[in-house]
Amino acid sequence: MLIRLEQIDKRYKTLRRTREVFSGLNLTIDDGKFTLLKGESGSGKSTLINLLLGFTPADSGKVYYEDTEFTGLDESSKAAFRRENIGVVTQDSSLISYLTVDENIVLAAGEGKLSRKEREDLLDIVGLKDCIDAYPGELSGGEIKRAAIARAVAGNPHTILMDEPTANLDKENVRRVLNLLRKKAAEGNTVIISSHEEDAREYADVTVDLDLAKE
Ligand SMILES: Nc1ncnc2c1ncn2[C@@H]1O[C@H](COP(=O)(O)OP(=O)(O)OP(=O)(O)O)[C@@H](O)[C@H]1O
Ligand SMILES: [Mg+2]
Repeated sequence: MLIRLEQIDKRYKTLRRTREVFSGLNLTIDDGKFTLLKGESGSGKSTLINLLLGFTPADSGKVYYEDTEFTGLDESSKAAFRRENIGVVTQDSSLISYLTVDENIVLAAGEGKLSRKEREDLLDIVGLKDCIDAYPGELSGGEIKRAAIARAVAGNPHTILMDEPTANLDKENVRRVLNLLRKKAAEGNTVIISSHEEDAREYADVTVDLDLAKE
């Protein structure tokens, strides 16, 4: 799905300050490509991802997924649209604590959609084959992050949106995650991530620099 942002204004107003993050932002995100969002800390990467997910509202402007005006949907329709179409990893993604890694994957993929072997293979890609039957409380921070990434792609959503999926991972695991996302884009999925990782540029088809996009 082609994603379009039209004339997006976004500011955060608190008692002490008003922070204008986007003013008249127009952006088209290609279908079936791997798009990297980069920019300084505070440039609006997480805000943009949260606007695309409907987790934070724009002050004005529209977000379209193909012909669907996402910003025009009510909250429950947005949730249904996300469930149907989007694999999500946020900056603080966690697993469901009383389910094993495997059970978390089954829940996301849908009962009976992936065999045990397919789930093992998916976890193997992110280096977690040995953790399949572990509970989240038995995993490290980086392992939880990688399990959340596997879970986000398990249901084969068309669009994959991840905020800093490679943060706090070592080089080997950064490579694993970026390769997985690269493969997803090659299969025709739309992949959008934010990252500080310089290496990510080599994997992405398109880099959007939010420091420049706003000028
Ligand atoms: N809930 C909020 N209330 C007020 N200001 C906010 C809120 N969320 C973000 N901001 C401000 O909006 C700006 C953009 O924040 P955002 O989190 O999108 O940046 P980012 O590019 O993701 O940064 P980082 O690389 O540090 O994650 C920042 O200046 C931030 O202080
Ligand atoms: Mg951020």
